[in-house]
Amino acid sequence: MTGVKYVPLACYHEYPEEEMRQRAASFRSDMQRRRSVRNFSSRAVRREVIEECLLTAGSAPSGANMQPWSFVVVSDAAVKRQIRESAEKEEYKFYHGGGGEEQLDAVSVLGTDYQKPFLEAAPYLIVIFAQNHGVLEDGRKVKHYYVRESVGIATGMLVAAIHNVGLAALPYTPSRTGFLKRILGRPENERLFLVLVVGYPAEGATVPDIQKKTLEEITTFV
Ligand SMILES: Cc1cc2nc3c(=O)[nH]c(=O)nc-3n(C[C@H](O)[C@H](O)[C@H](O)COP(=O)(O)O)c2cc1C
Repeated sequence: MTGVKYVPLACYHEYPEEEMRQRAASFRSDMQRRRSVRNFSSRAVRREVIEECLLTAGSAPSGANMQPWSFVVVSDAAVKRQIRESAEKEEYKFYHGGGGEEQLDAVSVLGTDYQKPFLEAAPYLIVIFAQNHGVLEDGRKVKHYYVRESVGIATGMLVAAIHNVGLAALPYTPSRTGFLKRILGRPENERLFLVLVVGYPAEGATVPDIQKKTLEEITTFV
């Protein structure tokens, strides 16, 4: 611990027990309204809202505080079109034999196909990259720890932040990922984590009728 400067935990806030319970239930209930939406409106969203949500994601914990994530926010129509076209080429192969029966079976409950119009319709594609290692100004590499876990937590916080402002999001994981790195000109140390499609739901948007597991199914208290 020598050489590490510690400061008081001035930002900590404790709630009375009853308020704590209410806040837990209220947050749970609000988060349970979140759904992955696949029909997006092209209605504009202010960039500062997205920036605030990204700062929430950036406040996530990470292995050794390496913050091994990069968020590329795509709103340019031509770049979105390029991403959609490349994605649909890959998805066409996936849905026509390349995906393997097991994975195709798993996604069949969602009724998705190779067409990804949301990649063009939504105002923002937040393309999230994980940094396998850091790079110092002089080119030396810095080891990153628990990259997948860290980027997963930051992405979860981003999903929650987006839901909190009344926008919809879809985590999209293309079957092949190289095209996104190429189109967006990303450096060698990054790999695609996922694409978060963000915007307002289209009018009349529908979602699959699926259920979440119960507390008993997902939890063991020891
Ligand atoms: C890591 C991850 C990858 C996903 N990839 C896709 C995807 O490529 N295409 C898609 O339509 N949905 C994708 N989803 C959304 C899931 O299908 C969705 O979260 C799940 O069906 C539960 O629905 P809900 O988000 O509405 O609760 C992905 C979700 C996660 C967490």
